[in-house]
Amino acid sequence: MEKFDKKAIDEQVRAGFPLEHRWHNKFHLEMPFGLINDPNGLTFSDGKYHIFFQWNPLGCEHKNKCWAHTETRDFIHYAVPQLAMWPSDEHDKDGCYSGCGTVEDGQLRVLYTCNRKEDGVRIPAQRFGSYKGGQVKKEEIIVADKAEGYTGHFRDPYIFTRRGKRYFIIGAQREADETGTVLIYEEGAEGWKCLGEVKNRLGEFGYMWECPNLVQFGSYDVLIFCPQGLDERAFDRQNIYQAGYIAGHLSLDSMDMMQHTKFQELDKGFDFYAPQVLSHEGRQLLFGWMGMPDKDGEYPTKEQGWMYSLTMPRELRLRQGHIYSRPAREMKDLRIQETAVEMESEALTEIARPLFDGSEILLDIEMGEAKELVVALKYGTESLLFIYDRREQTMSIDRNGMRNGGRGIRRFKLFADTKLFLQIFVDKTAVEAFFQHGEEAASILVFPEKNIQPELQVTADGEMMSLSGKIWELDGYWYR
Ligand code: FRU
Repeated sequence: MEKFDKKAIDEQVRAGFPLEHRWHNKFHLEMPFGLINDPNGLTFSDGKYHIFFQWNPLGCEHKNKCWAHTETRDFIHYAVPQLAMWPSDEHDKDGCYSGCGTVEDGQLRVLYTCNRKEDGVRIPAQRFGSYKGGQVKKEEIIVADKAEGYTGHFRDPYIFTRRGKRYFIIGAQREADETGTVLIYEEGAEGWKCLGEVKNRLGEFGYMWECPNLVQFGSYDVLIFCPQGLDERAFDRQNIYQAGYIAGHLSLDSMDMMQHTKFQELDKGFDFYAPQVLSHEGRQLLFGWMGMPDKDGEYPTKEQGWMYSLTMPRELRLRQGHIYSRPAREMKDLRIQETAVEMESEALTEIARPLFDGSEILLDIEMGEAKELVVALKYGTESLLFIYDRREQTMSIDRNGMRNGGRGIRRFKLFADTKLFLQIFVDKTAVEAFFQHGEEAASILVFPEKNIQPELQVTADGEMMSLSGKIWELDGYWYR
């Protein structure tokens, strides 16, 4: 049998839905088996959102990288994912790596990195393909190798249009000092030409930049990328690798990102990497990978034969150089209205409510006398804590109360004067939290030992002036 037998693999996936294991999520995209990572090829075509993602259908290791595909009209009803593209010739024999999607004359096309290693040397090629009848037909290679002066770490093209022309931006590593950067290519009559690096004021900034996106927000350009090799700091960069952005003005003439902000992370949780943005109908929609490279040991579902999920879709807005992320409005349709629990109290130090098998929590807290507030998800004797320290103006996410999987604390600055606003989506293992109306977001995976519904507890070290909020049970995604 061929290594990647599409028919057999698709059947096996179909048989795996609905997802059964108790650590499988209800409203986060994942696969019944294999390892998934980066969202790829996000496009809107034919009235549907197309979502591809990296997938190893053959095991839970980072190899055999294929693309899986699903589609949705509403981010609630999804097609059962299928194997869309797999290593099949000498160019991509070592993996169909990440890339993007675009619509050309009504046809959905993808652009991806062919990963190929010969005697340990990487020969990355960038290739187009057309998505037809459930799979990608591989077509022309537009850039056959890395650019001169860069190492084989040269991947993850993201296509964009400016001045009536097409460009793509790609992650790279400089040969001279093995530092990370991004390059831009421009399409012309003679093919795709390298315009060079995007100049910026970040200085030396890690050894590799993966998965760049270039997205317009009004008159601003936002360069999203995933730098590797940055040192941890007191309030940020606490994961092994980062996913963040700079906002500014990109000049394609001088290849300069002008007047850009500092580098900011898109997510402050433990499990977020390689996001991709789709611009559609004035919205900037983001999916991220809920996982982290080189940390497979922190994810115990490996023993069950599957690993990782994608985030829910998020909508991004840029305000004063900062990206606000909120769950896409479609997620409201998952709310099961009749389950709504209202919380409304004054002058209290503690409140507790049972949660559902999949919940959304809205919390609006007027902090009053409280100097420290703890919002806990209690899974019996295990817990995931969000601790707000008002004096330090910091939020800490503490996963040390969980016995399985990754642990540790992530701490970041969060300016809340008197009011704290939290929106938390609690799926079976995926938790996504949005702070102060999306000013910060955090993706966290927890693997509770017992199959029980968590309880929400809010405790304060002084009287809170008021707490109001709501809890809904959330429905799961539907697959057909
Ligand atoms: C990021 C990444 C990309 C690469 C892909 C391979 O997670 O390393 O740079 O294209 O994963 O799966």
